[in-house]
Amino acid sequence: MLAKAKTDEILPNKEAEESKDSQKKSKKEQKMEEPKTEEKKEKSISDLPGVGAATAEKLREAGYKDLMSIAVSSPGEMTDTAGVTEAVARKMINEARNSLDMGFESGADLLKKRDTIEKIKTTSEAFDELMGGGFETGAITECFGEFGSGKTQIGHILATNIQKVKDAKAPIAVYIDTENTFRPERIMQLAKGAGLDPEQVLKSIKVARAYNSDHQMLLTEKVEDLIKNGENVKLIIVDSLTAHFRAEFIGRGTLAERQQKLNKHMHTLLKLADQYNVGVYVTNQVMSKPDQFFGDPTAAIGGHIVAHASTFRIYLRKGKKGSRVAKLIDAPNLGDGEVCFNVTEGGLKDI
Ligand SMILES: Nc1ncnc2c1ncn2[C@@H]1O[C@H](COP(=O)(O)OP(=O)(O)OP(=O)(O)O)[C@@H](O)[C@H]1O
Ligand SMILES: [Mg+2]
Repeated sequence: MLAKAKTDEILPNKEAEESKDSQKKSKKEQKMEEPKTEEKKEKSISDLPGVGAATAEKLREAGYKDLMSIAVSSPGEMTDTAGVTEAVARKMINEARNSLDMGFESGADLLKKRDTIEKIKTTSEAFDELMGGGFETGAITECFGEFGSGKTQIGHILATNIQKVKDAKAPIAVYIDTENTFRPERIMQLAKGAGLDPEQVLKSIKVARAYNSDHQMLLTEKVEDLIKNGENVKLIIVDSLTAHFRAEFIGRGTLAERQQKLNKHMHTLLKLADQYNVGVYVTNQVMSKPDQFFGDPTAAIGGHIVAHASTFRIYLRKGKKGSRVAKLIDAPNLGDGEVCFNVTEGGLKDI
């Protein structure tokens, strides 16, 4: 889907002249030359008009690594982070958009793509059924709920059970841990419960501790390098997605900046899910809404940005007698519903 250079508009001058020459050539000759354009090198940031070495470096430092990241950016965001003027930013964004094949796929292609989607089991049959067979790869699933509601437990279970997904190469789970709550001992318990080899499961999980929101974003971007180096990453867990953002950006004035960064972060995750068929699981805290008098007085952190980027959203809460209740509140092709289970040593148990 990415970046097939369009030959008109953005050709450097010399090549543009050459292509003018070729228009004069006979039709037959042109036909034979056509495949050449297919091989055209993927454009990079420094190919954009008006971007010299210094600007390209500044953009890279600000996290704009390819044309796609510029194409999906906004002039305001680029002005803030890369220090270019708004007019220049607008021009760069337009050029980046023009030079990318922003991709229409046929319904049939998409159906074929759906065939490659795997469902990661939760160890609760009812929960799997609610999710249409399990947590999907190629999508972001967000779980939000109060402390102790089981978000991290589900993360550990998915990191373990991804091993049950049949693939030519053993799947790898990347666990981005922002709260220091990843526990290898817990993985060993869960692996035993699932009939898997605990050592093998632990070897297949790559854990990274994120110390702040920038670090968290950087680690997420690095996952693409892992994949390009041949690691069979099938699952990314970000636990917690929003805790650092919430702690670092306090007060109304900083809200816009926080949301902008979160938006970029979610986009990185979306791209990984979409391009590499990776399952993404993110956890999110809730805050109380003091102005809400009816219904549930809690709301997920991150607001619309996180909500809209997530394909599936689950609200977790504590139920009766130590049980947990998971409510699916947003899913593209599934009905809303609620299931109840216990968290046990071996995993989730239906009630
Ligand atoms: N080995 C275990 N056996 C049974 N239950 C367990 C086990 N480990 C954890 N739990 C249950 O999971 C709960 C903790 O859930 P978890 O850490 O997933 O919450 P969380 O939603 O991530 O909370 P936070 O918002 O604080 O991160 C414990 O209170 C306990 O009930
Ligand atoms: Mg947790």
